[in-house]
Amino acid sequence: MKRRRVMLVAGARPNFMKIAPVHRALAARSSIETVLVHTGQHYDEAMSRLFFDQLGIPEPEINLEVGSASHALQTAEIMRRFEPVVLDRRPDLVVVVGDVNSTAACALVAKKIPGVGLAHVEAGLRSFDRSMPEEINRLVTDALSDLLFTSEPSGARNLRREGVDPRHVHFVGNVMIDTLEAHLPRARQTGAVEAFGLAAGGYVLVTMHRPANVDDAAVFDPLMDALARLAADRPVVFPVHPRTRPALDRWRGARQELPAGLRLVDPLGYLEFLDLMAHAQLVLTDSGGVQEETTALGVPCLTLRPNTERPVTVDEGTNELVGQDADRLLRRARAILAGEVPRGRRPALWDGRAAERIADVIEGWDGTPRER
Ligand code: UD1
Ligand code: UDP
Repeated sequence: MKRRRVMLVAGARPNFMKIAPVHRALAARSSIETVLVHTGQHYDEAMSRLFFDQLGIPEPEINLEVGSASHALQTAEIMRRFEPVVLDRRPDLVVVVGDVNSTAACALVAKKIPGVGLAHVEAGLRSFDRSMPEEINRLVTDALSDLLFTSEPSGARNLRREGVDPRHVHFVGNVMIDTLEAHLPRARQTGAVEAFGLAAGGYVLVTMHRPANVDDAAVFDPLMDALARLAADRPVVFPVHPRTRPALDRWRGARQELPAGLRLVDPLGYLEFLDLMAHAQLVLTDSGGVQEETTALGVPCLTLRPNTERPVTVDEGTNELVGQDADRLLRRARAILAGEVPRGRRPALWDGRAAERIADVIEGWDGTPRER
């Protein structure tokens, strides 16, 4: 029997946690041959290489090395470099994950090449906020995909509303939680909590990198001022995404002195970050993945956005949206630190086995492209 060739694409930090279990599950199937492609959208050691090492992802066969640029240029450059790879390797299926520029760019390339199928892992999520670049990437990718793998019930609902035939939609659960489940013991072994001089359950962990929060000083500075005030109550650890660094340096330059409790550090490895997340009293974030991971861990999370494409984390998990209002953030954070802790449960199929379900569907797929 001819083996089916599946090309997997990853490009930016959150893609690596998603592609790791999917690659492992597919590579273990004798009927499938895998080809791993890195677009190079993220390229710093701490934004890329570290995750391949920590998550045991094999060296990509192809690295497109696109680097940073404006949306249009980055998307165009990924497409220009990815097309010859697909034409050369002729995969039966291209698998893309998440909602970054690499996801949409490679989806568009794959779908225009006859005989190549397209699968989207994390399909159907919608913030209904088209000012977010990720929402555009989600809409484009789902419009084109032959196989749509959803992580939470809202995914199928949104796709049905957009007219997608439900036969193409597969509720498989959350691959990010596969990675979390597989790495929790190793995360603890890093001793990151102690290495930062923190007490388990006694600190706040922060991430912030959305353009809407960091690109405008009128939004970013009050949020940072609120974090500085919170640091008087509890240690606040903030691993700073490279996109956030210039805004942070500007904010810091205008302040006389930072509170000792505010720890601004470089981006962390997955294992160290997971250890800090699992033992935090509270997480503040605008990340998509971190909203899901805190729900899986049962750790309170305040999301610095007016909306979320991951509503199950609010409806069933420990997530609460506080928007971009610094006063509200401070009020809600203090309430949680004072013991007003949200009760949550783990959403259905966030059980560590999502990638195996994806591999089952891909193995059984008859190769018929989606018609509408
Ligand atoms: C991208 C994704 C976003 C995702 C985030 C995860 C898009 C549109 N955005 O945002 O959805 O949540 O990744 O982390 O795809 N930079 C570096 N080193 C790197 C990578 C980036 O210094 O390794 C800096 C560059 O100055 C770059 C900026 O960060 O211009 C933004 O990088 P980019 O990949 O365009 O978007 P992110 O903000 O990282
Ligand atoms: N993460 C990490 N180190 C950090 C910050 C985050 O390993 O310093 C992990 C986090 O646990 C999650 C993923 O990165 O698995 C989320 O990526 P990011 O927030 O960059 O992107 P988003 O999910 O918002 O698209």
